[in-house]
Amino acid sequence: MAKRRGDMNYKTWDEFWAKFLQVTFHLQNPERWPSRERRAQWCLSHLGADRGAKILNVGCGDGVLDICLSRLSMHVTAVDRNPSVLAHAKSEDDTKTVNFVLSDLRKLNLPSGSFQSALFLECSGLVDKEQDLQLFRNIYEWLAPGGKFIVDCPLYDELSGSWSKVFPEGELTFHHTFDPETRMFRIEPSFKETTGQVFGLMDPIRDNLPGLSRYYYPKAEISSMLKSVGFSVKIAEPHYYGEKYFAILATK
Ligand SMILES: C[S@@+](CC[C@H](N)C(=O)[O-])C[C@H]1O[C@@H](n2cnc3c(N)ncnc32)[C@H](O)[C@@H]1O
Repeated sequence: MAKRRGDMNYKTWDEFWAKFLQVTFHLQNPERWPSRERRAQWCLSHLGADRGAKILNVGCGDGVLDICLSRLSMHVTAVDRNPSVLAHAKSEDDTKTVNFVLSDLRKLNLPSGSFQSALFLECSGLVDKEQDLQLFRNIYEWLAPGGKFIVDCPLYDELSGSWSKVFPEGELTFHHTFDPETRMFRIEPSFKETTGQVFGLMDPIRDNLPGLSRYYYPKAEISSMLKSVGFSVKIAEPHYYGEKYFAILATK
């Protein structure tokens, strides 16, 4: 439910993100499908998955990567906690074979040994470290022996910045900051409707602040978390976003 704090109105992640970013904003991006086709090829080249392999994608977002993987004959289970985004992803799935699952990653429960591969892309550091670690433990359990898992993270960001984009419904503004000492990245989106009303995003996972925060793991920290649950790890280079990001290929 939308909230009010001080003189600002706030919407939840689903109300704000689903409508203005994942659906309205990304749908207008001509690179949306080509970029995911390239990403699907990148994933498969690192996962070495055979046709028909079972792939789990946690925090799948708009599902376009999952549909591209499914078109390449993979059996994909794609999980996200955002119902609007998942409903939209389902409506776009022309393969009709992606298994979209609505769940919070912290509550996900899947059969042991049931996947050859797993992905956790652009999602690390959104929840607490212990919760990410528990997910890595679970993924280790859900993978078959020899199964592969890719997790990625940005290495750094600009100390601060902002951008705006005008839509028929109003103007979206994004302000972000990155603290290299704490490695916390914060984004504070706001939307000014054509009526003049402004609202922000208030859907905290780990703190009671407007916007969203994400912890940028150093490579060594995320590698040691993966090793501690039993994976062997190597860096999957180059990342499809370039040198600002790293990805780790973990093998059970
Ligand atoms: C930055 S997007 C990344 C989407 C996609 N993996 C990609 O690389 O384009 C983060 C996604 O994680 C999902 N997410 C965030 N927290 C989550 C949670 N606790 N459980 C499940 N999904 C979550 C969001 O709904 C969003 O779709």
